Amino acid sequence: MVSIVVGGHFGDEGKGKIISYLALHDNPDVIARAGVGPNAGHTVYKNGRRYGLRMIPCGFVNDNARLFVGAGVLVDIPTFLKEVGETNTGDRIRLDKRCAIIEDKHKEEDVKDKHLKTTVGSTGTGCGPANADRVHRTIKLAQDYPALKGFLADVPEELNKALAEGKKVLVEGTQGFCLSLFYGTYPFVTSKDTTASMMASDVGLGPTRIKRVYVVFKAYMSRVGSGPFETELDEKRAKSPLWKRLLEAARAKGFSGNNPNEAMAQYFGEKGTVTGRMRRIGDFDFASARYACMINGATDVAVTCIDKIFPECAKARAYDGLSSEAKDYIKRIEEAVGVRVTLVSTGPDAYDVIDLRG
Ligand code: IMP
Ligand code: MG
Repeated sequence: MVSIVVGGHFGDEGKGKIISYLALHDNPDVIARAGVGPNAGHTVYKNGRRYGLRMIPCGFVNDNARLFVGAGVLVDIPTFLKEVGETNTGDRIRLDKRCAIIEDKHKEEDVKDKHLKTTVGSTGTGCGPANADRVHRTIKLAQDYPALKGFLADVPEELNKALAEGKKVLVEGTQGFCLSLFYGTYPFVTSKDTTASMMASDVGLGPTRIKRVYVVFKAYMSRVGSGPFETELDEKRAKSPLWKRLLEAARAKGFSGNNPNEAMAQYFGEKGTVTGRMRRIGDFDFASARYACMINGATDVAVTCIDKIFPECAKARAYDGLSSEAKDYIKRIEEAVGVRVTLVSTGPDAYDVIDLRG
C-alpha cells in the first residue's frame, strides 16, 4: 500500500512533521524521497534534536524503515553525505543510480543568473540549472560518481518488490502545489511539477499503485521568495479578527516588525530552512487549496500549525481538544476543498497530531 505526502501551498506546510508522524505511527517498511532536490528543507525532530533535511527522507525518524531517494530527485553529493553522517543512516539509505547530480557550476549559475536569482528568487542550490542540463541531456548521473558507489540501487525495483510482498511504502513529496512548474505561479515556480503524480514517477511507482494522497496545508500560508501571493497579509487583512488577535499576541512578545507581515513572520518563526530568508505570511487561500486537492487527487488533507493560530489547541491529540473556533476553521477547509481533514497537527512533537482517519 502506497501513501504519498505532498504540499498544497508554497512549500513549508509542515510536510516534515506529518511525514514523521506517519513514519512512526503507520510504521511503513519503506520510505522514499521524491521531489526536486536539495532546494527543499524539511524540518523534523528526533530525540529532541532538530534536523533540517534536504536530501535524506524525514522518515529516517523510524529506525526500522529502509530509505530511498528516487531517480527524479537531484542530488547534491556533499549535502547527501553530510546528512547520512548526521542521521547515521548509511546502512539503510540508497539512491537511485539514475539520480542526476548537481555540480558546482549549477550552483554558481543559480546565484549568478539574474533571472533565476532576482526574478524567480531561486534558493540558489543549483536545482534549476541542473534540471535544465538534464533536459539538455548533458548532466551526469549518480552511477558516474565513485563517491556514491556503496549507495546505489534500482529504486523502482526495490519499491515494487516491497509492494508485491504486501509491505507499506511512504513517498515524501517536496515543495508545494503553487510552486509547480506546470500548475503554479509561473514563472515564480520551481523547476519541476510538484503534484502527487510527479512524486510517484520520481520514485518509479505507477499511478495504479497509489492508495492514499495526503495534501498538507498550514493553517495560515507562507511563501519564501518572490511571486504572486493573493492572500498575503497587508494592512487591510491585518484588520480581520484573526490577525488582530495574533498581532496583539506578537506585540506582547516584542515582535513588532516594520509591518504586520514581518511581525507575524517573526512571531511564527517563519524563516526559510534552506535560505534563512524570512517568509511572507498570509491567509489560507481556499480557492487554490481546492484546486491543489483536485489535481493531486487528494484522499486526505492534513492541516498543520493549528496551534499557532489557535494557541488553546496546543498539543491536543483528540478532536475534543480543539476549540469551537478551530473546529469551525477545519470545517471551512473541508467544505472548500471537498476532502476530509484527517490529520491535524497541534505542535512540533511527532505525536502532537489529531488522527481522524478512523
Ligand atoms: P528553486 O526551486 O531553487 O529554483 O526556486 C524557485 C522558487 O521556488 C523560489 O521562489 C523558491 O523560494 C521556491 N522554493 C523551492 N523549493 C522550496 C521549498 O522547499 N520550500 C519553499 N519554497 C521553495
Ligand atoms: Mg521547507
